[in-house]
Amino acid sequence: MTQENNRMAEIPATEPARQKYFMKLVREQVAALSQKKGRPLTCFISTFGCQMNARDSEKLLGILLEAGFVQGTDEHSDFVLYNTCTVRENANLKVYGRLGYLNGVKRKNPDMLIALCGCMMQEPEVVERIRKSYRHVDIIFGTHNIFRLAELIYRRLEERKMVVDIWEGTDAIVEELPIERKYPFKSGVNIMFGCNNFCSYCIVPYVRGRERSRNPEDILSEIKNLVSDGVVEVMLLGQNVNSYGKTLKEPISFARLLQRVEQIDGLERIRFMTSHPKDLSDELIQVMASSKKICTHLHLPLQSGSSRILKLMNRRYTKEQYLELVDRLRAAVPDISLTTDIIVGFPGETEEDFEETLDVVRRVRYDSAFTFIYSKRTGTPAAAMENQVPEAVVKERFDRLLKEVQDIAAQVVKRHEGTIQPVLVEETDTHEPGFLTGRLSGNTVVHFRGEPSLIGKIVPVSLDEAKGFYFMGSLVNTD
Ligand code: 5AD
Ligand code: SF4
Repeated sequence: MTQENNRMAEIPATEPARQKYFMKLVREQVAALSQKKGRPLTCFISTFGCQMNARDSEKLLGILLEAGFVQGTDEHSDFVLYNTCTVRENANLKVYGRLGYLNGVKRKNPDMLIALCGCMMQEPEVVERIRKSYRHVDIIFGTHNIFRLAELIYRRLEERKMVVDIWEGTDAIVEELPIERKYPFKSGVNIMFGCNNFCSYCIVPYVRGRERSRNPEDILSEIKNLVSDGVVEVMLLGQNVNSYGKTLKEPISFARLLQRVEQIDGLERIRFMTSHPKDLSDELIQVMASSKKICTHLHLPLQSGSSRILKLMNRRYTKEQYLELVDRLRAAVPDISLTTDIIVGFPGETEEDFEETLDVVRRVRYDSAFTFIYSKRTGTPAAAMENQVPEAVVKERFDRLLKEVQDIAAQVVKRHEGTIQPVLVEETDTHEPGFLTGRLSGNTVVHFRGEPSLIGKIVPVSLDEAKGFYFMGSLVNTD
């Protein structure tokens, strides 16, 4: 047998052993190159998109560090990875722009490796375009096989040409690979992957695949490990957390999972995202109402306030059902902060439809809202719909909506002015030296003077002055 065959024979067939094997091989190669260069090899990940991608990037960084890279600070690193998003067209355009820039960077450092992964790579036209026009890219992979990063780097180093590995879907959920968390005291935790909702504007079900829930035991043991490692707040992540557990061999509801997470000693705050209004159960509302740890915040995407548009969007609730759900939530959790996502300019949206959206915004009075201009995504049902709304009309509606959302949020956030609230201190303030930035249970940000040693702790803060979306406060001395 040749040496190469020997190597092939010893590659473990099952995960995570296989990836641990490749991390070791890449580590040897990184060490050799680093010795040649007389310095460590750096890596840098740039993350686009949502919390899911942010969590994936922590996993990818965990693999890179295990494979011998050290963390760099920018794109002038030896390994640069873009974890992409494709939910709207402008996310894609940004990636092409940055790739153009990286071409010049790589000319100065020809050993540099450039990798692309994430939702945008699950679109065949994108991969085609990169293969043709961005030849300086070394590795392309998708959303289903991020756990394979070490193996793909190894292949690239061996084959010395662009490696493309995109899976159309997967049932696999690989546990127990290294993860490098951005914050020591809070963490995202995936509870499910994929989405089965097929909202007619949305590309996510096509790029993230069918819904798969993790076993509750795996989730609970991950959280227990995080807590023993200093984490006090978890954010349970899924595209539609309210349908968690339905397809497991032993089905369990999301509300029941939350109750079990609540019992973990040392864990102080529980958040979750994203909730689909159609699946939000009374059981969940009751669990939120009686919980001591679940934060008083719910992100409840509205998308549109017009029942006619909601039907075209395939959202499966009406304006009235949404408003009634908000009433039930507020009756059970009176001080809950509500936030939302709204799309303006969905095909066929009339001025009357848009007024319905404004009406919901005025009635619900959100703490904040993300507002988006509709973006046509190839392959989604809405892309083929007639009556795409003219750009100027959309822009005018978008500006009106934004103003309404901001004016209301400023009044709503003010309700806490003058009160003292528990705040999880997250970081030093990036604008004001000597200040810290933290978050209320309801997710509003507060800045106040304090020592960096408080980062990661929950402290009482007096919310002295509301400033639109955030507060200026002062630490309350508890000695
Ligand atoms: N155009 C604009 N916004 C979109 N979103 C999802 N798809 C599109 C699209 N095609 C928004 C939705 C979703 C958020 C994550 O992104 O509001 O809740
Ligand atoms: Fe997240 Fe969706 Fe963007 Fe993918 S396409 S990164 S799932 S928002």
